[in-house]
Amino acid sequence: MDTITWIVDVTTDLSTNCPQLTEAARMLQNNEVVSFPTETVYGLGANAKNTDAVTKIYQAKGRPSDNPLIVHIADVEQLKEFADMSSAQVAILIERFWPGPLTLVLPCKPGVLSTRVTAGLDTVAVRMPDHPVALELIKRAAIPVAAPSANLSGKPSPTRAEHVAHDLNGRIAGIVDGGPTGVGIESTVISCTGDVPVILRPGGVTKEQLENVIGQVIIDKGIENENEAPLSPGMKYTHYAPEAPLAIVKGNRENIQRLIEQYQKDGRKVGILTTEEYADTYKADVVWACGRRDRLETVAAGLYNSLRSLDEKKLDFIFAEPFPEVGVGRAVMNRLLKAAGHRIIEV
Ligand code: TXA
Ligand code: MG
Repeated sequence: MDTITWIVDVTTDLSTNCPQLTEAARMLQNNEVVSFPTETVYGLGANAKNTDAVTKIYQAKGRPSDNPLIVHIADVEQLKEFADMSSAQVAILIERFWPGPLTLVLPCKPGVLSTRVTAGLDTVAVRMPDHPVALELIKRAAIPVAAPSANLSGKPSPTRAEHVAHDLNGRIAGIVDGGPTGVGIESTVISCTGDVPVILRPGGVTKEQLENVIGQVIIDKGIENENEAPLSPGMKYTHYAPEAPLAIVKGNRENIQRLIEQYQKDGRKVGILTTEEYADTYKADVVWACGRRDRLETVAAGLYNSLRSLDEKKLDFIFAEPFPEVGVGRAVMNRLLKAAGHRIIEV
């Protein structure tokens, strides 16, 4: 299959023109799979009402069929058709955080969406992305769009159209290139089916931001304790992993430098993932600065591109500095720990 790329200039007014988006929307209506940018990462979209279309997503990604998809909408009216949004908390969350990087898990009304979207669960995950391309595309397609991140299953999520092409060229109908995404890590997934909302995946909206608006929020124990089964199906899989083994290395920088040299002595090509503040203090085969430690949102924005770029250097080992688990740092560390397969070295 030839994959079409549509380049869209996000600085122009997309609501009036942009034939590329009309073409991409038509592909979605024809039950083809199209990748598009959101404010978090690129998504791999298909008609959520059609099982053939949704099946193509799983095939293109090589995604396990028990891992349900997030449904993307452009208008809250669309949601009423397939989800129960009667809870007062849900109304507040929608009002405060949509469009934005927050995915709500709600009771699903049967008979509207393909059951492959929800992997047979009686709940559905849904969000309204805060990106002009995503919103305009969904609006023109006029269907709910199921979309996981547009990477091959297990690989770091794509934050640029080139990442999508690298993983999925020839496997999907098209890619809408709207430039790099902003937030850089996926949405926060929160279950709103019980009395107290539960964070199933940390992401772009922080626990602190949620608690400011709705009070107590629990974090699923399965996220932070690798011996506990997570509540969200997707969180049990190894994710975001680069080819080279990755370890998080805790300790002072002199000791980390010594560790790098030890590994290099054995003939290994070693990379270190650090931030702009400390990049000059290391000597390694590759020293990669990902954002600034004093502004963790810049680390989130650059994390997946850093992992993919380090991968291209064909290293034998990658070390990564840890980040404080506050605010968006919680999501950054969650992804980094998964990428490292929970390997931590203390020096
Ligand atoms: O930022 C994002 O959320 C991106 C962009 C494209 O919107 N999408 C994304 O989708 O990260 P994906 O498929 O890579 O991750 C969806 C997560 C998975 O961990 C999945 O298991 C969980 O949401 N999920 C989906 N439906 C669920 C449900 N009904 N109950 C619990 N977890 C669910
Ligand atoms: Mg994903």
